[in-house]
Amino acid sequence: MPNKVLLIDDDINIAKMLASVFRFEGYKIATAENGRKGLKILEQQKDIEVVICDIKMPEMDGEKVLEQIRYQYPLLPVIMLTGFLDLETAVNVMRNGAFDYITKPVNNDILLEVVQKAIKQRTRMIEELRKKGREEKMAALGRLTAGFTHNLNNPLSCIIAYSEFLMGKYPNEPRLDKIYSAGNRMYCIINRMLEKTRKQHQQNKEVINLNRLLKEEVEFFDSDLEFKHEVEKEMDFAENLPEIEGIYSDLSQCFSNLIKNALDAMRNSHLKRLIIKTGQDTQHIFVEISDSGAGIKEEDLPKLFEPFFSTKSEKSERQLKGTGLGLYSSYQLLNSYGITFEVKSQVGQGSTFRVLFPLTLAAQSAMSA
Ligand SMILES: Nc1ncnc2c1ncn2[C@@H]1O[C@H](COP(=O)(O)OP(=O)(O)O)[C@@H](O)[C@H]1O
Ligand SMILES: [Mg+2]
Repeated sequence: MPNKVLLIDDDINIAKMLASVFRFEGYKIATAENGRKGLKILEQQKDIEVVICDIKMPEMDGEKVLEQIRYQYPLLPVIMLTGFLDLETAVNVMRNGAFDYITKPVNNDILLEVVQKAIKQRTRMIEELRKKGREEKMAALGRLTAGFTHNLNNPLSCIIAYSEFLMGKYPNEPRLDKIYSAGNRMYCIINRMLEKTRKQHQQNKEVINLNRLLKEEVEFFDSDLEFKHEVEKEMDFAENLPEIEGIYSDLSQCFSNLIKNALDAMRNSHLKRLIIKTGQDTQHIFVEISDSGAGIKEEDLPKLFEPFFSTKSEKSERQLKGTGLGLYSSYQLLNSYGITFEVKSQVGQGSTFRVLFPLTLAAQSAMSA
C-alpha cells in the first residue's frame, strides 16, 4: 500500500511541485491550502501517515496547526517547512513536537528522506503500543484468573474436606464419593488453568513437547461442556516426536485458534469429529487439526490468513461473530520460526489445517537422542 502524505501550504506553486515529487515517488498525496482545510482532511482521511506543513499561512499559521495535530493525533508526525535562516521558529516547532523541520527552498531529496524516517518511526510506535496493549490485556487476564482461582479454592477445599469427613461417617452412602471426586476434578481444572496462565506469560524460549502441549489445549477446551460431551475427539500422536524449541504462548495461541475455528465450523454439523494428529517426515514435524465442519469455499481459501477476513457474522444465535484475526495472528506469531500452514477443505465435509515445523526447530537434545 502506498504511504499517504498530507501537504498543507498556501503557496500553490510549491504545493503543486511537492505533490508531483511525492506522486512520482509512489506516494498518495492530499493537499490543503490552509490549516483549517488541512485539519478537515485529517478528520476525513484516516490513512494519512505524515503531515508536511508550512509555517507562514494566512488564517491559521503552521504553529497553530502543529499544536492542534499534536493534541488530536498524538502519533501523527508533522514536518514543518520554515523560512530560510528562521532558526527561532525552527527551535520553537521542534520544542512543540514537530518531527523535524525543513528550510525553504525545499531540497526534495532531504524532504523525502525525512518523510521516510517519520513513517518508520510512526509504524514502530504503533506496533509498540499494540504490543503493550496485548501484554497489558494478558497481564490483566492473568491477575483476574489468579484472583478468581484463589476465591474458588477456599469454598472448594471446604467441599472436599467435608465430603471426605462425611464419607467416613456414612461409608454406605455412594453419592458422597461423587461429591468428593467432582470436587477433586474441579481442583485439577482450576490448577491447570493457573498453570496455563503462568506459562502464557513466559516470553522466553523453552523446549516444548508438542504432543503434551496439544493435549493441554484440548483439556483446556474441556471446560466447555459442549466440547466435552458433543465433540468426538481423536488424538493420533506420533511417539518419539522430536521436541521443539519455541515460546510456549506463541504455539499455544496458534493451536488454540485452530481448535476454536474447528469447533466453530462444526457448530451446526451433525457429525462433530475433531482429529489432532502429529508426525514427522524428512523435512518437517507437523501437526494436523481436522474437523468435520462446514468446510471452506474454494474462493475463500486464499483469503484465510488475511487480517479481518471472517465469515462469522452473528446472523442468528447459532452463528458466531468472528474477528478475522485468529489465523492472521497465528501466522504472524509463527512466521518468524519458519513455520508454514497448509489448508485442505471440502465444503460440507470438513477442513484440515496442517502446521509444518522445519526440522531445524527440533531441540538439540532431541536431535541427538
Ligand atoms: N476449520 C475451519 N473450517 C471452516 N472455515 C474455517 C476454519 N478455520 C478458519 N475458517 C475460515 O477462516 C475465517 C478466518 O478465521 P479466523 O482468522 O480464525 O477468524 P474468525 O474465526 O474470527 O472468523 C473464518 O471466518 C472461517 O471462514
Ligand atoms: Mg478464529
